[in-house]
Amino acid sequence: MSRDADPLHALTWRTTRAGAGWGPASGRSPEARRRRRFPTMADLERAARRRSPRFAFDFVDGGTGEDLGAARNRAALDGVEIVPRYGRIGPVEAGVELFGHRYEAPLGIAPTGNDGVAWPDASRRLAETAAAAGLPYVAGTLASASIEQLADICGDRLWFQLYGMPRDDHRVSIDLVRRAEVAGVQTLVLALDAPVRSKRPRDLRNGLSVPFRPSPRLVAQLALQPAWTRAALRSRVPLFANIARYVDGTPDLTRVAGFVQRELRGGLSWDEVRRFRALWPRALVVKGILHPDDAREAVDAGADGVLVSNHGGRQSDAAPAAIDVLSAVAEAVGDRCTVLFDSGIRSGLDVARALALGADAAFGGRAFLTGLAGAGDDGASYVAELLTEELRTAMAQHGALDLDGLRRLAVRHPTSWSPK
Ligand SMILES: Cc1cc2nc3c(=O)[nH]c(=O)nc-3n(C[C@H](O)[C@H](O)[C@H](O)COP(=O)(O)O)c2cc1C
Repeated sequence: MSRDADPLHALTWRTTRAGAGWGPASGRSPEARRRRRFPTMADLERAARRRSPRFAFDFVDGGTGEDLGAARNRAALDGVEIVPRYGRIGPVEAGVELFGHRYEAPLGIAPTGNDGVAWPDASRRLAETAAAAGLPYVAGTLASASIEQLADICGDRLWFQLYGMPRDDHRVSIDLVRRAEVAGVQTLVLALDAPVRSKRPRDLRNGLSVPFRPSPRLVAQLALQPAWTRAALRSRVPLFANIARYVDGTPDLTRVAGFVQRELRGGLSWDEVRRFRALWPRALVVKGILHPDDAREAVDAGADGVLVSNHGGRQSDAAPAAIDVLSAVAEAVGDRCTVLFDSGIRSGLDVARALALGADAAFGGRAFLTGLAGAGDDGASYVAELLTEELRTAMAQHGALDLDGLRRLAVRHPTSWSPK
């Protein structure tokens, strides 16, 4: 029986379709073909691997060390069981309010610096995705388009993630925060979890450097991937668009990259968090939280939210899977602030798992970049559709017609623990 002829499938379709813009996978339209080619994130990952130069795929897919942290995120998420409740039939409402703003789903786009390596002009494509899908997009300090350019595209969906640049009493960091405020950014995200540059063996093996230096090996990888290379040649994006204006002299690639290498520090002290809190008039989130005491510290410093994250396994191979400590953090501060989650999200069911364990919303990093690398310019929008539709289906399947219903479901999470 075809998918569409299956009456139960058709029912889920109608139940979950409202607002998702998702349709059956039959037909010859480009959308229908894409749904058949990429029914899951795993299909997009395979396509991304095939279509990207090796260095670009490894940059996105890789973690630190032996990739154990990234694998731990996946294994732990896979192990989360949710018990469905039946007899609850009706339309599914997946919309969420975060910091006074309404979003179409409890799903956001996490900050990914140097994203132009994954797919040329990635930041603009991610901002377009946020605008079209009604989701928050956290632009990184090291995005490939500037705060102002991205605000023009996605307006008040834009959040901004700050890495501190402490020289001259944070002159540049403070200017970035001021620019974010003027551009209408809604939420400032302070990432604390990259106090040092981590060792990424896959990048080292590939000889990937910032700025890009085309060794014969990298040029050979480019020659094998004409779609990626054509898109790169079309793109007019300067590397680290937010930073170019702070560089002395002409902001060429070498100078901008040198500035970032020298000035940027991926961690902030709690005093610095308090200082940015005092400067920033809108919502403030602290990203990279894994310990309940750090979550309490963040709230005491004035954060409106914490983002539970192990940076997708890119900073410490010994860090716990972020999902394993989510409940402990939510118990510690969930009644005092918004709890957000990332690290390992590859499906709408994963989003449902995170919410069932206490998150108010979940963010994806690699998923959206993989969409671009696997399916091209509108691949991130496709990922937003795919994950949102999967979330709605998971909600309907488990008898959760809204997000509170999801949070009331019984969950078994064998690897959950509370750091002491
Ligand atoms: C290519 C790449 C670049 C990243 N750059 C940043 C960054 O500049 N700032 C930041 O706070 N997090 C950064 N992250 C981490 C993400 O914000 C997020 O925590 C992580 O990707 C979540 O895990 P996931 O990729 O499994 O969804 C980056 C992640 C990737 C994959």
